[in-house]
Amino acid sequence: MKKYYIRTFGCQMNINDSQKMGGILKTLGYEPAENWEDADVILVNTCSVREKPDQKVLSALGDFKKIKKKNPDAVIGVCGCLAQRAGYEILQKAPFIDMVFGTTNIHHLPKLLEEAQSGNKAVEIIEDIDENETELDKYPVVRENKYTAFVTIIRGCDKNCTYCIVPTTRGKERSRRIGEILQEVQYLVEDGVKEIHLIGQNVTAYGKDLGDVKFWELLYAINDIEGVERIRFTTGHPRDLSEDVIKAMADLPKVCEALHLPIQAGSDRILEAMDRGYTQKEYLQKIELLRKYMPDIALSTDIIVGFPGETYEDYLETIKVLKEVKYDQVFAFKYSPRPGTPAENLPMTEDPKTLSKWLNDLILMQKDISFEKNLAYEGKVVEVLVEEQKEDGSLVGRTRTNKLVHLEGRNNLLGELVNVKITKANRFSLEGKTLKDINLTVI
Ligand code: 5AD
Ligand code: SF4
Repeated sequence: MKKYYIRTFGCQMNINDSQKMGGILKTLGYEPAENWEDADVILVNTCSVREKPDQKVLSALGDFKKIKKKNPDAVIGVCGCLAQRAGYEILQKAPFIDMVFGTTNIHHLPKLLEEAQSGNKAVEIIEDIDENETELDKYPVVRENKYTAFVTIIRGCDKNCTYCIVPTTRGKERSRRIGEILQEVQYLVEDGVKEIHLIGQNVTAYGKDLGDVKFWELLYAINDIEGVERIRFTTGHPRDLSEDVIKAMADLPKVCEALHLPIQAGSDRILEAMDRGYTQKEYLQKIELLRKYMPDIALSTDIIVGFPGETYEDYLETIKVLKEVKYDQVFAFKYSPRPGTPAENLPMTEDPKTLSKWLNDLILMQKDISFEKNLAYEGKVVEVLVEEQKEDGSLVGRTRTNKLVHLEGRNNLLGELVNVKITKANRFSLEGKTLKDINLTVI
């Protein structure tokens, strides 16, 4: 059997696209390779959100090139956001690539692969969105996790954050029809999935372009599907996070009490320069509302440090927000100018060394907050979905608040929701015992 290997960079949208490409290749008779060295087809699904992932892609391609010595017929393809933005440039830098395609024509993979395998360069980067892009939704997904699955509900983004490449690489917002989403969820449940993770660049905008359905209505509809045990969604935009959505989250038993709500910066001046559409105060009001409805909600966010014009005082506003909100997790990045974005040519205010220090200080401070948040779980009983068994027999699962929990092994718990007493908090995970195990020990 022929084998494929996919290396994925970037966000959940990319991970989901890779799972779909796995599905396409499976229907073409391929199976996954353990190592790229054994593959007949290598796909690199790229990200372009910052400069670093751009560079990582080129270095990965340098490695993959070696496959041609062992297997001259092997095909190397590049897709995803960097391919969409700069496919021809990559082809020039890495002429050994056989296949390049963009973010909205992934469903053409069978045709492109055939072309590449017959010895031609298969390149298809289209600027407009492929009108048949939803063909991709018809393919099965190849997932690593048996019990949780991503479901794309909206593609693209209509916001114009001045630092962001996504509107260029993924286009304007296109919501999937609700019936198709519900059908996919149904199939996944029949395949043993317990947790549905709705994804999109801006999930809270779901339905705006369709006109007849709202994001919170989709949550209600999925909550009604028998077999679905948990629902999560990422990423929401603070501006579109309405009280209706927050109420639905609180009201629906299957929607988990966890939310990733990117703030990006704490200073109003910088938020305005980023064109985020809210002030610090407005953002904090949303957090307050979330906590009013769900006091134990776990919150995470994204931060950009060093956006052009950001002064030390502005940066301190971000630090102030982190101290006030006390997020469970923070993803912080140094600003990286992206080609074609409105902020691309704005002059940087601080030198890279200072920005690195700001970033490191922020990360260190947050590390303590995250640990403090985890410590609060010690002694509590929480619901865990057991997702994985390690080689040593131990089990790994997640709480509704998306915390990783390590459990002592009991095979038959895989895929089950169990009540777990947290015995120890670590910086990045929790340890616990199932109540069943505790009761056995007591007897
Ligand atoms: N520079 C640095 N970070 C960025 N992000 C998006 N664009 C940039 C950029 N140009 C970050 C944002 C976003 C996350 C996915 O990546 O914080 O939420
Ligand atoms: Fe990276 Fe953004 Fe593309 Fe996701 S959508 S892969 S974060 S550039």
